Amino acid sequence: MTKTCLVTGCAGFIGSHLTQSLLDAGNFVVGVDNFASGYAHNMENFNDHAGFTFYERSIAEEGLLTELKQSHPELDVIFQLAAVVSVPYSVEHPELTMQVNFEANRDMLDAAREMGISRFVFAGSAAEYGNEDRLPVKEEYAEEAEQLSPYGVAKYKSSVYIEKSGYGCSLRFFNIFGPRQDPTSQYSGVISRFVDFGLAGKNMVIFGDGEQTRDFLYVSDVVTSYLIAAGLDELGRGPLTGIYNVGTGSGRSVRELATVIAGLTSAPEDIDFKPERAGDIKHSRADVSKISAEGFKAEVSFEDGLAHTVEWAEKSQS
Ligand SMILES: NC(=O)c1ccc[n+]([C@@H]2O[C@H](COP(=O)([O-])OP(=O)(O)OC[C@H]3O[C@@H](n4cnc5c(N)ncnc54)[C@H](O)[C@@H]3O)[C@@H](O)[C@H]2O)c1
Repeated sequence: MTKTCLVTGCAGFIGSHLTQSLLDAGNFVVGVDNFASGYAHNMENFNDHAGFTFYERSIAEEGLLTELKQSHPELDVIFQLAAVVSVPYSVEHPELTMQVNFEANRDMLDAAREMGISRFVFAGSAAEYGNEDRLPVKEEYAEEAEQLSPYGVAKYKSSVYIEKSGYGCSLRFFNIFGPRQDPTSQYSGVISRFVDFGLAGKNMVIFGDGEQTRDFLYVSDVVTSYLIAAGLDELGRGPLTGIYNVGTGSGRSVRELATVIAGLTSAPEDIDFKPERAGDIKHSRADVSKISAEGFKAEVSFEDGLAHTVEWAEKSQS
C-alpha cells in the first residue's frame, strides 16, 4: 500500500536517498529542507517527480506540520532527518542546535500523534553515547553517557522523548557513507575525504596510527532501516517503536579504509601519518542485536559500498 510521507532534510545526503527510494516504491513524498547543509542538486533526480512536493522551510517553524497536514491530508508517515549536523557548529551554536535537534522534534512528535499520523521516525546518532569504550555499544549505555557536544545532547534528549512517549522510533546511526556525502563538510566522514584524496592522486592522511575502528554502514542499508522502522519495508519487517542502533556490528580500521580506497583510485599506496587528534575515540561499533531481531541486516559489503562511492565521486567530478 502506498503512503504519503514527510521527509525533512530531503536535500541532504541521506534524505535524498530515502526520498528517491520512497518515490521508486510508488509512495508520495512531501519534502522539507532549508538548505542549511543540503543542496538543491541532491534533489535533481526527483525534483520533477509527480509524487514529490517540496517546501523550503525550517522544521523549527511553529505550526509547520499543521500546515502540511492541511495541504496533504493523507500524510501518514514522518521521517525526521533535518538537523544541525555539524558537531563543531553545534558547539558554537548550542541554542539553535537545541531548537532544531530537540525542540522541533518534540513539538513535531506531539503534533503528529495528536493528528493521528501513524509513524514517526527520527535520525538519532552514535554521538548520544559520548566517549563510550564498552564494545559493542548497547542502546542502554546512552543512559549513563556524557554526551560531548550540544549535537549529542539534543539527539539524546529527542531519542529519550520518543522512547518515553511510546510512539515513534529513533534510529541511532554510527558512520554512514555513500554517494552524495559532502566531502567539504566538517561533519563528513573520513570516507569522503579519503575518496577526495584518492581521486586527486594524493597520499591518504591518517591522524594517529590508523588502527582506530568505526562501524561503517552504506547508505542504501540506512534507507532499508528507515523503511523497516516505518513499516514500509517490502519484506514486511517492522514497524519499530523505541530506540535502535543501526550499523553493521563490525568495526573496520581507518588504515584498512585508506588501503581499499587507494586501491580503487589513483592514490599512492604510501600513507601520511599525522599526530592523533585530541578527543577522537579509538573504537566504535554498534551492538545491533536489537534491530537484528527485527530482521535488519546490512546487505552491502564495505568493499562494494566503497566501490559505489568512488564510482559516483569520479562521475560527479568529471
Ligand atoms: N551521516 C552520518 O554519518 C550520520 C550519522 C548519524 C546520524 N545522522 C543524522 O542523519 C540525518 C541526516 O544527516 P545527513 O548526513 O544526511 O546530513 P545532511 O547535512 O546531508 O542532511 C541534513 C539536511 O537537513 C537540512 N536541515 C538542517 N536544518 C534544517 C531545518 N531547521 N529545517 C529544515 N531542514 C534542515 C539540511 O539542509 C540538510 O539538507 C541528520 O539528522 C544527522 O544528524 C547522520
